[in-house]
Amino acid sequence: MRYTDLTPHFVQLHQVQAGEARPELIDGLLDVPARIAPKFLYDALGSRLFDAITELPEYYPTRTEAAVLAQHGASIARHTPDNAVMIDLGAGSCAKAARLFPLLQPSAYVPVDISVDYLRDTLAALQQRHPELPMLGLGMDFSARFALGREATAWLAGRALAEQPRLVFYPGSSIGNFTPDEALLLLRQAHAVCAAGGAGGGLLIGVDRVKPRAVLEPAYDDALGVTAAFNRNLLLHVNRVLGADFAPAAWQHVGLYNADESRIEMHLQARGAQTVRWPGGERAFADGERLHTESSYKWEPEDFEALLCEAGFGPARHWTDAKDWFSVFWAPA
Ligand code: AVI
Repeated sequence: MRYTDLTPHFVQLHQVQAGEARPELIDGLLDVPARIAPKFLYDALGSRLFDAITELPEYYPTRTEAAVLAQHGASIARHTPDNAVMIDLGAGSCAKAARLFPLLQPSAYVPVDISVDYLRDTLAALQQRHPELPMLGLGMDFSARFALGREATAWLAGRALAEQPRLVFYPGSSIGNFTPDEALLLLRQAHAVCAAGGAGGGLLIGVDRVKPRAVLEPAYDDALGVTAAFNRNLLLHVNRVLGADFAPAAWQHVGLYNADESRIEMHLQARGAQTVRWPGGERAFADGERLHTESSYKWEPEDFEALLCEAGFGPARHWTDAKDWFSVFWAPA
């Protein structure tokens, strides 16, 4: 099969409107304890700060996952289908998936991110480098609901790709930012997407593992304070979206491991009593009161395997690094 159109296609399924975020934000701010959803960490500056986090010596997940993929790439390729439609969840720069193209030899590449605008430049450059690989950028908030949708399905059918196996790629242990119940829901939806394609499809997913507190906590509270800036930047984002008056300097970053829940928790802790106001409302915070901003669940491999099984996948296998810090799972649909 040759495909020579050098323009990637784009489908934006649902553009998140600024106004939609307000009720959700107000709800969380008035809750006890107060909370703000982790998606507000990722405005333009937040995304850059996250990229910087992945370069920090303390933040092991990105480089450990890359090492697992590099070391076990050939074995992964033997267990995953050739010529699959590769669906890349939270694709961002598309770099992780692109590194796997020579090994996995996909028949099409479908990066999914909340906004196709974010994908536009990277995907155009990637298409130039891989002119024979059909590419479709899909804009959707897959954390709310993941399905390919009519337009993407028609795009695949139009290229005789409807019967190809589908490989859903979800690296980075972003699944850890969902509660186990939410993760199960997303995995079920990923299973349905894989099962709707040809035989042999499945999920290739990066999962961060339970490990000592002494490794986990510095990864989420680094010496340079980049994670602290990432966390506090969420307040600037909320100020813009809600018209609130958070003063970031009045909030202390907290990143701690909750061993009972197997999760890192990020909070912002009030430095002194203060009242935060927005048009139509306010919330008083006591000195030391915390605002929960993110959880990052760490999994034991057997628990994650059980979750995959509950989501409908067949027997999974996984590859890990020398320290057993991070696993990449292949779960056949
Ligand atoms: C995107 N996600 C997998 C990161 C994590 O490790 O949970 C987000 C992050 N939060 C603080 N540092 C990195």
